[in-house]
This record gives sequence, structure tokens and C-alpha cells, in this order.
Amino acid sequence: MRNARVLGWMPGTKPAKIPKRIPMNKKKINSNSIIMKTKKTKEGNVELYVPKGEELTKKASVFYNPEMKFDRYLSEVIVSIVKPKKICDCLGASGVRGLRYKSVSRGSEVVVNDKNPSAIKLAEKNAKLNKLKIRTEKKDANILLEEEMFDFIDIDPFGSPIFFLDSAANSIKNNGIVAITATDTGPLSGTSPLTCLRRYGIKSSRVDFSKELGLRILISATIKNFARYDMAFNPIFSYYKRHYFRVFGKVERGAGRTNNLLENFDYLSYCYNCGFRERGILDKCKHCKGKIKLLGSIYLGDFASKEFCDEILKKWWAKVKDIQEKSGPTRGQSITYSHLIRQKGSEEKLESYLTLPNISRFVRIIKEEQEFPPYYETHKICKWNKKKLRRIDELLDKLKGKKTHFTPTGIKTKKSFGEFIRNLS
Ligand SMILES: C[S@@+](CC[C@H](N)C(=O)[O-])C[C@H]1O[C@@H](n2cnc3c(N)ncnc32)[C@H](O)[C@@H]1O
Ligand SMILES: [Zn+2]
Repeated sequence: MRNARVLGWMPGTKPAKIPKRIPMNKKKINSNSIIMKTKKTKEGNVELYVPKGEELTKKASVFYNPEMKFDRYLSEVIVSIVKPKKICDCLGASGVRGLRYKSVSRGSEVVVNDKNPSAIKLAEKNAKLNKLKIRTEKKDANILLEEEMFDFIDIDPFGSPIFFLDSAANSIKNNGIVAITATDTGPLSGTSPLTCLRRYGIKSSRVDFSKELGLRILISATIKNFARYDMAFNPIFSYYKRHYFRVFGKVERGAGRTNNLLENFDYLSYCYNCGFRERGILDKCKHCKGKIKLLGSIYLGDFASKEFCDEILKKWWAKVKDIQEKSGPTRGQSITYSHLIRQKGSEEKLESYLTLPNISRFVRIIKEEQEFPPYYETHKICKWNKKKLRRIDELLDKLKGKKTHFTPTGIKTKKSFGEFIRNLS
């Protein structure tokens, strides 16, 4: 009983809360803000203070993931093409996205929001560091989106973006762009079909083209969500990378436009035995008479606009040229890797140099793989059909196929499944 009294607890009363232990690298100064250890880093045109020595989890005092640089480069290019009047980075964390957007679109009004006060403190410090004028808000993203309208909304959450889509539909202006990240790759890619059904309302399953299925489920759920408000969410650029999916959609109002977009939805009949798939509802596999699993209904249209891919490539190469021209001793020539290593203080150039060619190759593959059905994962299909695999280049040639950005072992073709199998070896 003595101990209970010390803890402020007596039978029939609530036990007192035991204060949480604060990790060594975070010192609490009042209930609203946490001083964390930071280090300086640079991304694109902006310098940033980011948390130092913290694990990359939801529990970090402020979340900053250097692995997402690839996406931030791409997103920045898209913003520099679109030049939206009013941008909302509604899950902003350190402010890195909002600041990068402001740095390439100075005329835009940029709002960086995060419900975590420490994140907003850091975002404000980062804005000062770069002398960039942004507005900050500490609201729940759904509340902010219900209150104001924007031309570009970036939704970059922990896990699923589904919980923000209704407010995004309410907040996006006609012809505006909504950019969405999803990191819940398991439910999206067929490993947890029941979670997928609950969260996204779509039937999924384990398939050989799991990454494309995941991207298409995310796009499908987003389109259906916007369709409820007579809004067409047209995917202009989307992709998968390592641990996340990313979709950029241009939103147009109108029931007619929305109906046209929904024409791209259908079920996919899929055979587990051999990997056969066909649009529509089948009883049995047409190839091996095996059992069919029904997936969908999902969006089967293009997940990127070829014209928009061209615009990204054009902008991207203008950026490369700019870096080349500004790069001191290499002025006027093309940058070489060894030049950059020798130059002192050229981390940013080096990073750009390494990222730039990757991004243009990536966008080119995405452009080329449009107008094709989902890819075949050649290793799995060979195993299931007891075939040896010839060289991918030869196979692509035989099938008039295309590579896919989803996986280096995937290929896309419009030939029939039978012809694909005959040409595998
Ligand atoms: C994945 S991080 C964002 C990363 C950031 N966009 C970047 O590129 O570095 C998600 C952020 O959303 C914030 N957050 C989570 N739920 C929120 C909500 N309902 N409203 C506002 N912010 C929220 C978290 O505090 C966290 O900073
Ligand atoms: Zn079959």
C-alpha cells in the first residue's frame, strides 16, 4: 500500500501516469516542443537541418528519410513544370518538400503543415536558413484541407494515404494536381488481400506482377474516391520504387469526364498455375484449364501520360545542362564522375550527377511501358511453366516487348500468353 501511495494510487482511483522516458538525444523543454540534435545536409537547391542520430521510424522527433530524395527530385521537377499558384505540403515534417518546391517555383504560395509542433519548428528554421518565404500550419491535415483550397496538394504519410483523400478532393482546385505516396506496399501488392479489401475496397492476390498490381490498386482506389464527388483523377505520372508507390494525378471536375475515366476499370482473371491473365471474368484458365482468381475491379489505363513524361525529360535535361554550365573547371564540357570527385565541396554536384542519369532512364522506361498490359515476371513464369529463360534482350525482340520500371526481370508484351510462353526459351 505504501508504494501505491507513493505513485498516487489508492484503490478505486486511477493510477497516476508514469512519465515516458525521453531518449538521450531529445530533451523536452515544454509540452509542445522538443529540442533535438540536428545536422546540416543539402538536397537540390536547399540546405536543411535534419535530426541527427535518430532511427528512421514514426517515433522520430521529426521524420526525414534521405532515401526519398529520388522522389523529391522528381516531384520538384513536376512542380517546376506545373508552377502551381498555391501548394500544400500537408504532411511536411522537416519542410524539405515544401522548401524544394518554393525554390523552383518562387511565385507559388507554399504552405507547409504538420501536426507535430517540433516538425514545424524545424521547417521554420529551415525556411530561414534558405531565406525562403513559406507559410506554416500545425493542423491536422484533414482540417487544413477542409478549410482551404490549393492547386497542388502533396500527401506523403506514414503508410496509407487513403485517410486523406476525401479532404484532398474537397480542397483541390479544378485542374489541380494531387501527389500521393503510399508505403503500405504489403496490402497493396497482394500479400494481405483482406487488409487491401478493407482499406482500398479492391480484390487482390499474390501474382507475379505484384508491384504493378500495387500501383494500379492505389490509382484505382484514388480514382474511385474522387469519382464520388464527380471528379476525374487522371494519373499523369506514377511509379513504384523499393518501399513506396507514388502517383501524380490531374483532377478535373465533371460527371462526364469521370465516367470516361471509369471506362478503364475491369476485372482481371488470373491463373495461379501458369500466370495466364485476361481482362474480364473467366471460369477457367484458357491456357492450362487451372483455377481462376478474380482481381479488381482495377484501373487498366495508362499510369503515366507519355506527353507529360516528355515534359519531365525536357525539364530534367535543362537542369543537367544548368549544372554542367555552373560546374567550374568542367564549364562547357560534360561532367565526368572523376571531375566531380576531384572537386572539393562538390557533394551536391556529385549527388545530382549520380541521380540525374538514373532519373531520365527511369522516366524513359515509364513512358515506353504505357499502353501495355501488366508485365510478366519472367523468372516466376518460367518456373511455373517449367521453361528455361533466354536472354531478356532476345525475348524483348521476339515479342516486340518493352522493359518495365517495376523490375529488371519483368517484360511487357501485347502478344498472346501462348506466344509469350512459346518464346520464353
Ligand atoms: C512520412 S512523414 C512526411 C515526410 C516528408 N513529406 C518528407 O518528404 O520528408 C509524415 C508526417 O506526417 C505528420 N502527420 C501524420 N499524421 C498527420 C495528420 N493527420 N495531420 C498532419 N500531420 C500529420 C507526421 O508528424 C510526419 O511528420
Ligand atoms: Zn493456367
